[in-house]
Amino acid sequence: QPRCFSGVQPTGNLHLGNYLGAVSRWVPMQDQMPSIFCVVDLHAITAGFPDAGELTNATREVTAAYIAAGIDPKRSVIFNQSQVKEHAELAWIFNCVARMGWLNRMTQFKDKAGKNSENASVGLFAYPNLMAADILAYRATHVPVGDDQKQHLELTRDIAQKFNNDFAPRIKELGLGVANPSPSPESPDEIYLPLPEPMIAGPATRVMSLRDGTKKMSKSDPSDLSRINLSDDADTIAKKIKKAKTDPEPLPSELDGLKGRPEADNLVGIYAALAGKAKEAVIADFGGQPFSVFKPALAELAVERIAPMNGEMRRLMADPAEIDRILRNGAEQASAIAEPVLRDMRRIIGFLDVR
Ligand code: TYM
Repeated sequence: QPRCFSGVQPTGNLHLGNYLGAVSRWVPMQDQMPSIFCVVDLHAITAGFPDAGELTNATREVTAAYIAAGIDPKRSVIFNQSQVKEHAELAWIFNCVARMGWLNRMTQFKDKAGKNSENASVGLFAYPNLMAADILAYRATHVPVGDDQKQHLELTRDIAQKFNNDFAPRIKELGLGVANPSPSPESPDEIYLPLPEPMIAGPATRVMSLRDGTKKMSKSDPSDLSRINLSDDADTIAKKIKKAKTDPEPLPSELDGLKGRPEADNLVGIYAALAGKAKEAVIADFGGQPFSVFKPALAELAVERIAPMNGEMRRLMADPAEIDRILRNGAEQASAIAEPVLRDMRRIIGFLDVR
């Protein structure tokens, strides 16, 4: 059956890129299929252990952001990864499925490890295997993410496919398979793990820095002016848009005219995503207008959409016990799905079960 899974790392504040590329796109999924949204705290230690208090606080803050953005804990499962031990267990199994060569090709590892990759943690290298485990422990089929996760999702599909292929006779023998929805001469007719569909769509799959249209908006950019945080108040949001880098030309009257103008392209994409429109529609409205007209309109729209979430996050954060209760409830629901999947997988592999 269809199931949606996605997650965000609790490393500091969520920004507009996380919101437009991922979290805002999760909200409608809740109406379409059972959905699970995870705060991936095990991933948050791969680039060094953050301060313990900050990790705890960021975990609650990301949870509050999910809820403020419209994820309904009554309909969807919200939990933090470390509380469901199947993630770590399956990640180990996938460490033995994935090939070194596959992980050596991951561009995000190269970006994050930098020049001194000898000194990166083994966890940072194996990070995509944990991400595959997050998704496949629930046999999830739909994964809404931003563009930067595309390669990790391709790896997730490769891992699922290799497991299905290598264990095809066992899966069949134990009667645990489902019909392969895309059979081919190389793939078995029955599979255990679905190949999850990356959902990377809309006008803001890659939101860029407000200070440099060639760099991704990111939590780690030292300049706070480069991003809009979900915790920013109305004045801060307006100020950051006013200061956003642009070129001197007015907006083009055709979409093609945004080529080679990364800052203009980025702001048009942000406007489109916030308004729920296509970029063409924004160009139809603002083509030929100078930034002195477009920026105030964008600021007004961003404040209207983002500032109320900031108020709601503050309200939720005032009651940490309630957030913890939501996460506890979510962890119980998540475990109830992942436990039987891991039990099946242990049987498929042949681990002796003595309990
Ligand atoms: P993370 O925490 O870096 O980012 C969370 C989500 O936000 C998206 N995103 C962006 N989208 C558009 N523009 C940007 N500038 C931008 N920056 C971030 C990311 O694509 C992502 O969807 N490995 C993942 C978390 C993860 C996960 C998973 C996701 C762990 N397990 C299982 C899906 C399924 C990550 O580090 O995301």
